[in-house]
Amino acid sequence: VHLIVYTSEYIGDEQNINTVLDAITTSAKVRNPNLKITGLLFYHQPRFLQIIEGPKDSLDQMMQIINRDRRHKNIERLISEAIPERKFNDWNMDSINLSNNESLDLAELVLIRDVYKQNLQVNTDAIADFYKAMLQSHALISQVSQ
Ligand SMILES: Cc1cc2nc3c(=O)[nH]c(=O)nc-3n(C[C@H](O)[C@H](O)[C@H](O)COP(=O)(O)O)c2cc1C
Repeated sequence: VHLIVYTSEYIGDEQNINTVLDAITTSAKVRNPNLKITGLLFYHQPRFLQIIEGPKDSLDQMMQIINRDRRHKNIERLISEAIPERKFNDWNMDSINLSNNESLDLAELVLIRDVYKQNLQVNTDAIADFYKAMLQSHALISQVSQ
C-alpha cells in the first residue's frame, strides 16, 4: 500500500465550494473503490488537503486525473511513501469543509509533516492520527456550534 498526501488551491467561486466538494466525492465514491483507494478530502478556504492510499499503480492513475483537474492549482505533495497498512480503511473519500474553524496553511502543513519525520522518514502512523484528530475536533466544534 502507498500513501499520498497533497495540498492544492481551489480555483473557483467560494460560494460554489460545497457543490464542488459534492461533485468530487460523487466521482470519487464510484471510481475509488474500483481502484481500491481509500482516504479523505479536507477543504479550508482556499486549500484542499487530500489523503489517498491504495496500490501504487492506482494512486499514480488517480494523481494523473487529479493533476489535470482545472478546479485547483499549485498541487504540493507533502507525503508519498509505502506504508505497511491502510490508515483510513473505512474512508471512501468523504469531504470535510473546515472553513469555519481550523486552518490549513501550507507552511503549517509542511511544518507538521516535518515534525512527524523521524530518521528522515515521515512517521505515517503519527501523521494519520494527527489528521484523524483534525477530523474529530471538527466534529466536536460542529456539535458545539449547532
Ligand atoms: C482536490 C480534488 C480531489 C479529487 N479527488 C478525487 C478522487 O479521490 N477520486 C476521483 O475519482 N476524483 C477525484 N477528483 C475529481 C477528478 O479530478 C475528476 O474530476 C473526476 O474523477 C472525474 O470524474 P467523472 O469521470 O465521474 O466525471 C478530485 C478533484 C479535486 C479538485
